[in-house]
Amino acid sequence: MTETKTIDGRALSAQLMEELAGRVAACKEAKVEPCLAVVLVGEDPASQVYVRNKGRRAEKAGIATRDHKLEASTTTAELLELVGRLNADPAVDGILVQLPLPKEIDEQAVLSAIDPDKDVDGFHPTNLGRLMVGLPTFVACTPQGCMRMLEASGVEIEGKRALVVGRSNIVGKPMATLLTAANATVTLAHSRTRELAEEVARADILVAAVGRLECIRGEWIKPGAVVIDVGINRGDDGKLYGDVDFQGAQGRAAAITPVPGGVGQMTTACLMANVVQAAERRAGLG
Ligand code: GUN
Repeated sequence: MTETKTIDGRALSAQLMEELAGRVAACKEAKVEPCLAVVLVGEDPASQVYVRNKGRRAEKAGIATRDHKLEASTTTAELLELVGRLNADPAVDGILVQLPLPKEIDEQAVLSAIDPDKDVDGFHPTNLGRLMVGLPTFVACTPQGCMRMLEASGVEIEGKRALVVGRSNIVGKPMATLLTAANATVTLAHSRTRELAEEVARADILVAAVGRLECIRGEWIKPGAVVIDVGINRGDDGKLYGDVDFQGAQGRAAAITPVPGGVGQMTTACLMANVVQAAERRAGLG
């Protein structure tokens, strides 16, 4: 029976924020105030919470924010017009359009309209393509946070079998790309995967990004595996749960990220890192 280490997202994100504080100060010295524009369309309660958390994080980092809260009835054309204005505004370093957008809005058109140099989410097709071919780019915040957590857990990635469960453009696909670049042997599983339990049992590194409460059972996990749980699911009891059975993983996994206090914390810190990266470029420091 191994003791399972909890990978502390709060501590790691605090460490990253401390590093960013110095870089923000250097930008300000160069007369550039890092600035993130946040666009929220509609009233989705989870999105409102995420946007609020991002605002707080930015404030702590000394990053200015501009909030744009739009009605759920906003059209694609109206949103494209706002994105165009933010692209043209030299004081704005990063643009984040909170997802999901109301279903009437053409999400891909909006994400593709963001200037790739201000795309701090890393969702623009140009930036996802740059990631794929190994060029410098903005790396999407959640997968970036997962990689930072793997590095901090001391796990060697090269040559390991990694399983990513979930094939979204914003987590699963970039995560699989990053793990491939780090020389893991990567499997990308999804809702049509057969025998998920067997896939999980083979994985030295497991990244779960499904969005279904504890759908990955503890007994599936390979003893000694490192588990990164991206899921944030609210249970009937009102508490937050991951995609992985956290209790069941105890004594099996070598290390696991908790929910809350894991990946979510790193995601917002990595967003700030991307904004600082953009501001440094504007300040001629990047
Ligand atoms: N919705 C869920 N995660 C994210 C994210 O990382 N960025 C944005 N913009 N929307 C999200």
